[in-house]
Amino acid sequence: MTKKLFIKTYGCQMNVYDSERMAEALGAEGYVTTEVAEEADMVLLNTCHIREKAAEKLYSDLGRLKPLKVERPDLKIGVAGCVAQAEGEEILRRMPLVDLVVGPQSYHRLPAMAKRAEAGEKSVDTDFPEEDKFDHLPDRPKAAVRPTAFLTVQEGCDKFCAFCVVPYTRGAEISRPAERVLAEAQGLVGKGVREITLLGQNVNAYHGAGADGDWSLARLVRELARIDGLDRIRYTTSHPNDMTDDLIAAHGEEPKLMPYLHLPVQSGSDRILKAMARKHRAEDYLRLVEKIRAARPDIVLSGDFIVGFPGETEADFAATLDLIRAVNYGMAYSFKYSARPGTPAAERTPVPTDVADARLQTVQALLTEQQRATQAAMVGREVSVLFEKPGRLQGQMVGKSDYLHAVHAKTDATPGTIARVRITGSAPNSLAGEIA
Ligand code: 5AD
Ligand code: SF4
Repeated sequence: MTKKLFIKTYGCQMNVYDSERMAEALGAEGYVTTEVAEEADMVLLNTCHIREKAAEKLYSDLGRLKPLKVERPDLKIGVAGCVAQAEGEEILRRMPLVDLVVGPQSYHRLPAMAKRAEAGEKSVDTDFPEEDKFDHLPDRPKAAVRPTAFLTVQEGCDKFCAFCVVPYTRGAEISRPAERVLAEAQGLVGKGVREITLLGQNVNAYHGAGADGDWSLARLVRELARIDGLDRIRYTTSHPNDMTDDLIAAHGEEPKLMPYLHLPVQSGSDRILKAMARKHRAEDYLRLVEKIRAARPDIVLSGDFIVGFPGETEADFAATLDLIRAVNYGMAYSFKYSARPGTPAAERTPVPTDVADARLQTVQALLTEQQRATQAAMVGREVSVLFEKPGRLQGQMVGKSDYLHAVHAKTDATPGTIARVRITGSAPNSLAGEIA
C-alpha cells in the first residue's frame, strides 16, 4: 500500500538536498511524495533556524495543520531540520499534534521513527550519532528528474561566527569520504545529471578521506571533472579563510568548474569583522578577490552581508558599502542582523530596528544595481546554457548559464541539453537569448 508524503522545505540548499534524501529513505517504507498537503499521510516540515523568528514560524505553521489532523487523526506530522535540533522535546510539549522530531544528523533513523509513528508512538531524535547518516541512507533512486543535482560533501561548522547558529544546530565540521562522493556523483551522472553542486556549510574546508590521505576540495573537484558526462561542477558555501591556492588555481585550470563563486564576507568593517569573529580583515578579502580574478577573470562573485550587527556604526556601514563597490558583485544576499538565542552576539546591545532597516534598504539598492549592471554586461555575449525545463512561453526553454544566470530561449532542445546561446536581453532576475 502506498502512503503519501508531503515535505515542506525551508531555508538553504542543504535542506533541499536533505528533503530529497528523506523522501528517498521513506520511499523504502512505501511513501511516495505528493505536492498536496491535504492528501498526505505524513507531513514533514524541514525547518531552518538561521534567521528571524524560526521557532515561532514553525509553531504557527504547525497550528495551521491542526484542522487537517482533526479531520484525519491518522495523519502523521514530523518536524526535521535545524529548528527540530534546537527545540527538540519542546516541540512535542507545545504541539501535541506532532508525531516525530528529527535533527539533521539523524535522518537515517527516520524510517524507523515513521514506523513508530504509524504504531501511535511519538519519538524525538536530536543526537549527533557516531555513525554517518549518509552511510545509512538508501541509494538515490533510478531516474533523475532534473539534469542538475545537489550533493552534500561536508556538513557543520567549527568557525563559530558570533551571530550564527550553524555550529550548534548542524554540529562540528565533518567531510564525507571522497570515494562516497565520487560514487554518488557517478550514480547521478548515470541517471542523466550533467551538473552537480557540491554542498557544505563550509564546503571549501572539505577534507574528506581519499585513497591517499585527506583530499582538499580542489582535489575532489579535479577528480569529479574526470567523470564523463558530468559537464559542470559548482560548490557552495565558502569561507574566505579556506579559499586555498589550489582551489583558486582550479578555477583557472578546470573548465568544468563554473565561473561563479559564492564567497560571503558579511561586513566591510574590520571592527565589525572582529566582533563577528570572522578571523579576517576586509583587506584580506579584497586581496583574495584579486587572486581569484587573476585565475579566472570572468568569474561572477556573490556574497552575503549582515547589516545592523550589534555595535555597527554609520562608519562601519559605510565601509561595507565601500567593500561592495570595490568588489562589484554579480548578485548578493543581504540580511538584517537577527539575534539567535545561544550565540555570543545575542547578548550584545542591538542596533535600533529603524536604523538597521534603513541600512538594509541602502545595501540592497546598491547590490541590485550591481546585479543589473552584471546582467546588462552579458547582453551581446555568447554563453553556454544547460536547459532544465520549459519556459513560461510556448516553445521556450529555461536553464542556467555558466555564470548561474537564468536564461530563456526559444528552442526545441530537451532538458539536459547544453547549447551556446547569444544573450539578447536582461530582465530583473533572468536573461533572454537565442540559440547561437
Ligand atoms: N542574522 C542575520 N543573518 C544571518 N546569517 C547567518 N546568521 C545570521 C543572523 N543571526 C546570514 C549570513 C550567512 C547567511 C547564510 O545567513 O549572511 O552567510
Ligand atoms: Fe555560520 Fe558560516 Fe560562520 Fe560557520 S562560517 S559560523 S556557517 S556564518
